Amino acid sequence: MARVYIEDLRNHVGEEVTIHGWVYNKRSSGKVRFLVVRDGTGILQCVMVKGVVSEEVFNHSDALTQESSLAVTGKVKKDDRAPGGYEMELSNIRIYQIARDYPITPKEHGTDFLMDIRHLWLRSARQHAILRVRHEIIKSIREFFDNRGFTLLDAPIFTPAACEGTSTLFETEYFDLGKAYLTQSGQLYGEAGAMALGKVYVFGPTFRAEKSKTRRHLTEFWMVEPEVAFNDLNDNMELAEEFLEHIVSSVLKNRPKELLALERNTAFLENVKKPLPKISYSEAVEILKKKGHAFEWGNDFGGTDETVISEEFDRPVIVHRYPSQIKAFYMKRDPQNKDLALAMDVLAPEGYGEIIGGSQREDDYDMLVQRIKEHDLPQSAFEWYLDLRRYGSVPHAGFGLGVERTVSWICGLEHVRETIPFPRMIYRLTP
Ligand code: 4AD
Ligand code: MG
Repeated sequence: MARVYIEDLRNHVGEEVTIHGWVYNKRSSGKVRFLVVRDGTGILQCVMVKGVVSEEVFNHSDALTQESSLAVTGKVKKDDRAPGGYEMELSNIRIYQIARDYPITPKEHGTDFLMDIRHLWLRSARQHAILRVRHEIIKSIREFFDNRGFTLLDAPIFTPAACEGTSTLFETEYFDLGKAYLTQSGQLYGEAGAMALGKVYVFGPTFRAEKSKTRRHLTEFWMVEPEVAFNDLNDNMELAEEFLEHIVSSVLKNRPKELLALERNTAFLENVKKPLPKISYSEAVEILKKKGHAFEWGNDFGGTDETVISEEFDRPVIVHRYPSQIKAFYMKRDPQNKDLALAMDVLAPEGYGEIIGGSQREDDYDMLVQRIKEHDLPQSAFEWYLDLRRYGSVPHAGFGLGVERTVSWICGLEHVRETIPFPRMIYRLTP
């Protein structure tokens, strides 16, 4: 018999089906017992009436504890009052296992406690909703690039050198070859891919050893990085706004139930449409000053600065042309003003900060060699990268979007730690 899942019950109204899952909740009133079952796709209220089901089944249900695993069989009814919209008139219960005292109860638990039992916390309704939105976001990311003729390019995780600055590298011994580092970004490999395939995206885990204990930082996070040959900064910004519009509209369209469960106010999300506002770094500095924030031109924006800037807009804002001294070695200088890099960041609204960072890349061999020297990077480790400027160099651009910050923003969460199944932070390596 084909297995039936709760989210497909609309196709089985009036039929007798069996659902396999776990006890989510239980209550009784008089002769009626309610058993709420979850199966990973939804929750279903099962109703038992004394005298209607056998004595054995009725008593069976007494033994069931929260998270006991079971199969329930019964007739499916549509019922708008029931959570999920359907109800089952129970006729049989088969028990797989009676769960021991489950540590998560309907009472409030502290986040530290819940993080310690993250492997169980994932079963809760809110975590379930977040994981489903995360899945939708990842799916829409792949869909966006796949539909536009991009090729997925997998970059290595062990790398011989830094990409985003040396201070945030995780180091490990690598046999007789000395040190290896966990990748901070697949971008440099993405650039090689763009020269081979024209349009590529790298999508994988990335690692940062920065000691930031903020609600926006993980030590291990997922980043998607498109890279396109012959794109300039303007093309790059346009790609980013179309990309964000696609991601947000996919979640709004396909995950409304989850957004509702998360009590997400979707008004800001509905605004995510091309074109997004675009301002220069200098204009962003003016916004800060106008609002009475002390800020010196040339510094990098901190989390609070980003929040203050983004409060001026009702949708994500693209900030471009940052001072080159605060940006990575590979960014191309603005031909109009050599102190500026052709960089762009996208700041999410509602205080979620930077979700995208990108740039047009330095495509001139001599300039790039000079940058590598200025940044004190070992040129030998970058010879392969310089080859991309030796053999048919072209203008090109790309960006990286952090999946967890995007999930956090779209779900309206307090902290990125709930956006990934098993978060890694400075002070957390388990479970
Ligand atoms: O701005 P970043 O450092 O850019 C790069 O790594 C470029 N190489 C990307 C490129 O041009 N191909 O990181 C990109 C994004 C950030 O905007 C943010 O969303 C996310 O990655 N990110 C983090 N997310 C969670 N925890 C951290 N510690 C993060 N650091 C960056
Ligand atoms: Mg950045």
